[in-house]
Amino acid sequence: MNRPTLQTQRFILRPLQASDTAHMAEVIFGDPDIGWRFGLVADTSSPDAILETTAHWIEEANSNWAAKGWGAWAIQPRDGNVTSEHPFLGFCGFFDPDPPIEDHELAYGIAKARWGQGIATEAATAALAFLFQETETRQAETVCHPTINLGSSRVLQKAGMRLRGQIDYCGSVAAGHGLFNHFSIDRATWLNRQASTLPSSR
Ligand SMILES: CC(C)(COP(=O)(O)OP(=O)(O)OC[C@H]1O[C@@H](n2cnc3c(N)ncnc32)[C@H](O)[C@@H]1OP(=O)(O)O)[C@@H](O)C(=O)NCCC(=O)NCCS
Repeated sequence: MNRPTLQTQRFILRPLQASDTAHMAEVIFGDPDIGWRFGLVADTSSPDAILETTAHWIEEANSNWAAKGWGAWAIQPRDGNVTSEHPFLGFCGFFDPDPPIEDHELAYGIAKARWGQGIATEAATAALAFLFQETETRQAETVCHPTINLGSSRVLQKAGMRLRGQIDYCGSVAAGHGLFNHFSIDRATWLNRQASTLPSSR
């Protein structure tokens, strides 16, 4: 499948690529307030380790476009305000799930300087629309920490996902992080939501 570019009111979502590694490592995985939330970067003290993890993560995310028809995007402003120093604002997309999650796992991260501008909500809404309009996907899921990640819970609710309950996510209880909130949305719910938000013809 082609790697699709999506347009929202304010942003272009274009597929992540290997050349995004350095900026992604700098503003997402290397940011001590962000990287650890993805559970990937064990050693945030080493720029090389962060770069290596980020490169591997982008490669894995990208392999899904070719193999499965879905993947992850970099979020760029539509006004073309992109420079080599600030090539994108964050990422959003779908990833292979970690147990006990079974379906496409939605994830996103926004550069800290741009938090609170509605970027994650706009990108997550567009990503879900792509998934249900352009693929045969049955359901999307994700998790976030109930107290540490209040912002993400709000993003998920605003994008239409529903809280299903709490789960032990990848050994989060044994690791001392407790239970995570489990969110999902299935195709029927997404379609109903679209129908109810369409302008009335009367
Ligand atoms: C969570 C994150 C993606 C939110 O991105 P964002 O673009 O700032 O989110 P939005 O501006 O779309 O905010 C959506 C809603 O969440 C609320 N929100 C955002 N951050 C919040 C916070 N820290 N605490 C409480 N609410 C928050 C906003 O007020 C808004 O709600 P409102 O419209 O009712 O006011 C961003 O903070 C981030 O990248 N965090 C680190 C990575 C991460 O946690 N990713 C998710 C992994 S589960």
